[in-house]
Amino acid sequence: MTHPGRRPKSLTGRRPKSLAGRRPKSLAGRRPGDACMPRAWRSVTIVTSEEEFRNIGLSMTTHPMEIDSDGDDHTHSAGESVIVAGDLPAFDKAIPWVEKYRPQSLDDVAAHRDIVDTIDRLTTENRLPHLLLYGPPGTGKTSTILAVARKLYGSRFRNMILELNASDDRGIDVVRQQIQDFASTQSLSFGVKYSVKLVLLDEADAMTKDAQFALRRVIEKYTKSTRFALICNHVNKIIPALQSRCTRFRFAPLDAVHVTERMKHVIEAEGLDVQDDGLVALVRLSNGDMRKALNILQSTHMATQQITEEAVYLCTGNPLPKDIEQISYWLLNEQFTDSFKRIEEMKTRKGLALVDIIREVIMFVFKIKMPSAVRVQLMNDLADIEYRLSFGCNDKLQLGSVIASFTRARSALVAAAT
Ligand SMILES: Nc1ncnc2c1ncn2[C@@H]1O[C@H](COP(=O)(O)OP(=O)(O)O)[C@@H](O)[C@H]1O
Ligand SMILES: [Mg+2]
Repeated sequence: MTHPGRRPKSLTGRRPKSLAGRRPKSLAGRRPGDACMPRAWRSVTIVTSEEEFRNIGLSMTTHPMEIDSDGDDHTHSAGESVIVAGDLPAFDKAIPWVEKYRPQSLDDVAAHRDIVDTIDRLTTENRLPHLLLYGPPGTGKTSTILAVARKLYGSRFRNMILELNASDDRGIDVVRQQIQDFASTQSLSFGVKYSVKLVLLDEADAMTKDAQFALRRVIEKYTKSTRFALICNHVNKIIPALQSRCTRFRFAPLDAVHVTERMKHVIEAEGLDVQDDGLVALVRLSNGDMRKALNILQSTHMATQQITEEAVYLCTGNPLPKDIEQISYWLLNEQFTDSFKRIEEMKTRKGLALVDIIREVIMFVFKIKMPSAVRVQLMNDLADIEYRLSFGCNDKLQLGSVIASFTRARSALVAAAT
């Protein structure tokens, strides 16, 4: 219900709190006529290129949930002039690459071919079930659902979905009011092929248990008109009752091959100078998280023109492989005090964190030949130190503990040899 005099909120009479529903702050989001826009711009649509226009339109949501917007991303009403590429170069640079290169269609989603094909087929046949997508961050869960929404509803998909993520309040009140309101109202959006609406609950594992219990009933009640898509990192934080109402898909960390392929695409599109070892380092540090890979690539590119292995490691503050080699050598060969002094000096000089050093040194422990009892003990010790560091323990004392663990392992090695 809208009150007289108030701005009508949306077709459903409710204004979603999601990011998508918020008024965009960027220039791209302002509509001609906005008071704070320079006078000369008020009657123009600003476009830098067609692809960019599409990206901006989809990622920053130029017309969220507003039926009076003209809807189609590629149409401009008569009389509007268009500023084309080159006029606003800073505009392009402002978009983070994770958004700029977000897959627009299901075909663009790298890896997970079997999952994506299944969802694609169900979407095509209008048999979409409630979905539960889970897996580590940066593996394409949100992108897949947004691509499904785009496929179902075309460019006006924002009118047909209710997107709530972790930054929105998603307590029991939201389930009872906002979600129920959305699900129970008849959709009057014109020109869409598919009338079933979509409720997208991103980062659903952050929802309270009460809200999840309330959602259980809502899902069943409105199955006819609404599909729910839950996305989360930890599936065990979703109550079993909700899990059983959804079709589950697990998004595993991405293969190095897929990350490399996608990075090559971005490198080519941006015309970057990336050395082979730089690309390998990038993929290695990303650990199967495409978002991380794109962010590292963009920040390294901002820091230096030529992207080499060293640039990538320096930019992310990770220890270089050769530094780790050196540290491992000291740990295995030097006396306690010498080891301590040298590692401490390197840590200060290069600004390394002990936790990063430990994580890399552990890889070395796997490679070195030693009796399994010694290896087990050493791994255990290092894992304990990492755990303690996560609680903010003193770095210097913990470094002492690392060296002590290696000293003990060395003694055990000597004892085993004799
Ligand atoms: N499978 C994928 N294929 C292509 N790009 C991906 C994929 N997964 C992630 N990305 C990139 O990472 C960014 C974040 O992906 P997103 O779908 O939001 O991840 P999630 O929701 O799993 O955390 C996207 O904008 C996209 O650029
Ligand atoms: Mg996500």
